[in-house]
Amino acid sequence: MARVIVVGTGIAGLITAYRASAHHDVVLVTKAELAESNTKYAQGGIAAVLFPDDSVASHVADTMRAGAGLCERDAVEVLCSEGPLRVQELISLGVEFDRIKNGELARGHEAAHSSRRVVHAGGDATGLAIEVALLRAVRALAVETYAYTFMRDLVTETDADGKPRVTGIDVIAPDGNSRVIDGDIVVLASGGAGQLYKHTTNPFVTTGDGVAAAYRAGAALSDVEFFQFHPTSLAVPGNPLVSEAVRGEGATLLDENGKRFMFDVHPDGELAPRDVVARGIARAMEKQGGRPIMLDATALGAEFLATRFPGITEVCAEHGFEWGTQPIPVTPAAHYWMGGIRTDIDGRTSVRGLYAVGEASCTGVHGANRLASNSLLESLVFAWRAADALNEPQRAIEVDALEPQFEITGKEPFTRDQLRELMWTHVGLERNATRLEEAAAILASWHSEANTVEGAENANLLDLARLVVVAALRRKESRGAHERTDYPETREELAFSTRWAAVNVAGDFIPAEDRIPAEDQAETVTR
Ligand code: SIN
Repeated sequence: MARVIVVGTGIAGLITAYRASAHHDVVLVTKAELAESNTKYAQGGIAAVLFPDDSVASHVADTMRAGAGLCERDAVEVLCSEGPLRVQELISLGVEFDRIKNGELARGHEAAHSSRRVVHAGGDATGLAIEVALLRAVRALAVETYAYTFMRDLVTETDADGKPRVTGIDVIAPDGNSRVIDGDIVVLASGGAGQLYKHTTNPFVTTGDGVAAAYRAGAALSDVEFFQFHPTSLAVPGNPLVSEAVRGEGATLLDENGKRFMFDVHPDGELAPRDVVARGIARAMEKQGGRPIMLDATALGAEFLATRFPGITEVCAEHGFEWGTQPIPVTPAAHYWMGGIRTDIDGRTSVRGLYAVGEASCTGVHGANRLASNSLLESLVFAWRAADALNEPQRAIEVDALEPQFEITGKEPFTRDQLRELMWTHVGLERNATRLEEAAAILASWHSEANTVEGAENANLLDLARLVVVAALRRKESRGAHERTDYPETREELAFSTRWAAVNVAGDFIPAEDRIPAEDQAETVTR
């Protein structure tokens, strides 16, 4: 029996804790209250092949198409073929998905799915329903839990062959003191880093702590340049999500002349892949002086909207919008990070004793652009697999990684708002070398002390911002969520060859693209 530390209490962390506790001593750690996570805010639902007119092959094809040539087929096949069984397990654990009158599961539709395969709960409160049910299941088990306990770093020791092994986590406890929690295995389920951006649908906790700590411990990361921007957040402070399922039900996007512009951008209109719609909206906003686009759901009727989307209806009302009778202003916002800690399909990372699951991980399943409602599914499927893999002998994955060169010489303090603004304006939906190099130079000058939770979160965001910028500079093409206006083409030869697995080694932070040695461009990453 191993002592397994699980960091994070969204769907990925809770599934790991639930499943691993059958064989191991599990310690569950989170920096906020137990129920706080990105999962809690998930609206649209969970995509899985649960209906006879659908097929695994079709879900695989949709996922691969959305991923813009960068998905890894083995991971996608695992996701789509194991998904249905795992969703049934969620139902057994008490998640009450919405049903139609005859008792069958209700089916939602979202962009780029060729079938209505998204199941949901509480209308638009799918994440909350999952979070509540899983917390209940985990609380019934002998799992040691630490809320308000912030993981500042991984603790490692060096094995006889000179390679690192994780032996625990260094935390800031609720009383502000530091301590170490020892463990044989650490599973990072600590989520993404939406707080990198000024506009995000993600909650405040999403500061990428696990990814940054893994990076500092020497774990390989990959695909960090791919950050997904959700097309429709309500254009008010905090950018609450307006689910894609609303467009799936027929809502339309209008510019300020009342024109339905998305069909000029893509034949699938409002239901084109998420990156296409997000950029379509951003460009339409630019043409109208930055003012938001309108989402018109009035044709669906107030009664339907209140029943199918009660949470969004409430948020709209809080901001003075009656969306049953008037279009609402929407804007893109950072939503999901496709990149993360490089793993195999069982959550193993390149560091011994370290696993990663959920948004913190990069299984390769989402490629350059995640298909809607595949994220809860990914967490569920791969956390389940990782928990089972903990029973096997520990081994790390092999990664032939490019080595970015970082020397953190910056001394200037910065505020989180400054960083989020910089990332939004320079490293957002559209990128180019000039803006990226400017961002790199500014980021290189900054520094944050990690002696408080806020300081450590800022240090994490800074590390991650630098990584995103370097990876974005390196990828000289446009693909999925990564749009370079100076390299607008997708270049097939670059798909995997510039895939960048960052390994933390001492060296110089390279702010300018022209300082990246040309010979590095051709190196590949393997798993
Ligand atoms: C949404 O409801 O639009 C979000 C679903 C997702 O991000 O997959």
